[in-house]
Amino acid sequence: MAKAPMRVAVTGAAGQIGYSLLFRIANGDLLGKDQPVILQLLEIADEKAQKALKGVIMEIDDCAFPLLAGVTAHSDPMTAFKDADVALLVGARPRGPGMERKDLLEANAQIFTVQGKALDAVASRNVKVLVVGNPANTNAYIAMKSAPNLPAKNFTAMLRLDHNRALSQIAAKISKPVTSIEKLTVWGNHSPTMYPDYRFSTADGKSVKEAINDEVWNKDVFLPTVGKRGAAIIDARGVSSAASAANAAIDHVRDWVLGTNGKWVTMGIPSDGSYGIPKDTIFGFPVTVENGEYKIVQGLEIDAFSQERINLTLKELLEEREGVKHLLG
Ligand code: NAD
Ligand code: LMR
Repeated sequence: MAKAPMRVAVTGAAGQIGYSLLFRIANGDLLGKDQPVILQLLEIADEKAQKALKGVIMEIDDCAFPLLAGVTAHSDPMTAFKDADVALLVGARPRGPGMERKDLLEANAQIFTVQGKALDAVASRNVKVLVVGNPANTNAYIAMKSAPNLPAKNFTAMLRLDHNRALSQIAAKISKPVTSIEKLTVWGNHSPTMYPDYRFSTADGKSVKEAINDEVWNKDVFLPTVGKRGAAIIDARGVSSAASAANAAIDHVRDWVLGTNGKWVTMGIPSDGSYGIPKDTIFGFPVTVENGEYKIVQGLEIDAFSQERINLTLKELLEEREGVKHLLG
């Protein structure tokens, strides 16, 4: 018997990430090739944005996706999030050249109080929320705190793009396929303070750290390359990453819904106090996923350098949180 459709809400649906994301969701890349989906698309009420959204929907229609059971356009989060099983919060202002993601805090934070409240009111009680809009960790924190009737664990932020960037840099360094590499993580904030960590990684079962055996490369090349990749893309393209961001969003939610078969992935999730990260801080952790529930990988040794890096990214997140306190009442 065919499965009942799942409702996927996407905000910022007429934006550049939206354009790379929606077609893949409708094609079954997010929830599986046997899972029908209904897309509930939110854009700002502005006439131009709504017209652009109509155009995107015309193109979605023209694909005649077999798994697409419906698509609706919205300008109100209260209708867009109704009964949503998955909510991808993409809509927000992107940064331009010379900006840091936290410079967007003032512009974007308000969006996530409104949307958190709407999710609280109308979404499925099991809704899986991924925040992509920057600064993603703090926006996810705002949405989570604005939705007191939903479990905090339903709110996550996207560190998967950083994870994938790290994976591809390591694969190139050791001349191995990305599929051979396991046990990688990126700790902390989606910002240049993030800490991509390959100390536990293996490639075909052998230690990546030993294969690289170059701490100078780690500190002076790998960490800044991954940490500043978003800015490098803005510099090269003139606009921020879109297709790779959409791809990471698909990876994040697919793994959350369908599981990781014991493999580690990185998710920005509310801390449960693990590794000394204060409870509810939305922090990049290594996780495994089974039956739709993520679990932080426990018992990893944190050496002095790693602790220093974790402290730095945590400090930034706590400062960002302080900066939005007034929005949370
Ligand atoms: P974009 O400007 O092309 O599109 C954003 C869309 O969101 C626009 O169409 C806009 O009208 C819409 N929007 C704005 N406010 C909204 C609201 N309140 N409700 C619904 N829609 C709203 O931007 P983009 O390139 O698609 O990027 C979107 C966000 O994702 C930016 O904040 C960007 O920095 C962020 N981003 C995050 C990551 C990550 O790894 N976490 C990666 C890439 C981009
Ligand atoms: C990225 O990492 O590519 C995004 O967060 C966009 C940005 O502002 O860097």
